[in-house]
Amino acid sequence: MQRVALVTGGMGGLGEAICIKLSALGYKVVTTYSPNNKKAKDWLRSMNDLGYGFKAYPCDVTDFDSCKDCVRQIEEDLGPVDVLVNNAGITRDMTFKKMTKSDWTTVISTNLDSVFNMTKQVMEGMTERNWGRVINISSVNGQKGAFGQTNYSAAKAGMHGFTKALALEVAKRGVTINTISPGYIGTKMVTSIPKDVLDSKILPQIPMSRLGKPEEVAGLVAYLSSDEAAFVTGANISINGGQHMF
Ligand code: CAA
Repeated sequence: MQRVALVTGGMGGLGEAICIKLSALGYKVVTTYSPNNKKAKDWLRSMNDLGYGFKAYPCDVTDFDSCKDCVRQIEEDLGPVDVLVNNAGITRDMTFKKMTKSDWTTVISTNLDSVFNMTKQVMEGMTERNWGRVINISSVNGQKGAFGQTNYSAAKAGMHGFTKALALEVAKRGVTINTISPGYIGTKMVTSIPKDVLDSKILPQIPMSRLGKPEEVAGLVAYLSSDEAAFVTGANISINGGQHMF
């Protein structure tokens, strides 16, 4: 039976590469997009013109009821979700001095509350079926902190706390929960960093002297989604070109 993989924020740089990889491996791939994403239909059409057969549903990942309705609809249309990739995320980078409560809350709710909101919808089914994979896309900056990212680093570090706790609770039920912590990957999120900051502060910290490729992260998601990865749970796997080792 073809497994269903749900990727939140699947239309961004990293999410798209994850959708393509999982589709190539035979998963039925479904993504969510923010209800105010005006480019969603065009993205879906262009991907499906290339033959991918993706499905896409609007979902406000910060809103529990929106996630509930969205997953209920997906399961009705496609069947139970076997793999959940919590990938949706945003940045609102600024020094703590300038950060408002709203800059904090927006990032925490999009990057961390979303993980609860989405995982809650699929976990009961996964444990009942004794098979499931949840992969939380965190960040090197959740591991080491980053200048200008108190909100983002807190949310990304929180994701891994969630991973470890839930991994313990469902380990006996064939369900694995893991975190991937990518470093600086060549997506719009990273290329929007001011060029002088990227060149002078960030690239020199990366021993491989380059940005990562979305496909490199997607390959790791594919592994964690597979049957082969059944013994990997509660892990936080770094993929950062050597930027941060511990
Ligand atoms: N480390 C140390 N010092 C830094 C620094 C850094 N990374 N970045 C900036 N500074 C210093 C500057 O040199 C400057 O110092 P001086 O006043 O002594 O010259 C001071 O901090 C202020 O810097 P800016 O002029 O840049 O201040 P700003 O308020 O205009 O901008 C900022 C601050 C928004 C944080 C900006 O520096 C920035 O965008 N930094 C990049 C933040 C970042 O790494 N974001 C990651 C996005 S990608 C991502 O998040 C994906 C992922 O998971 C990895």
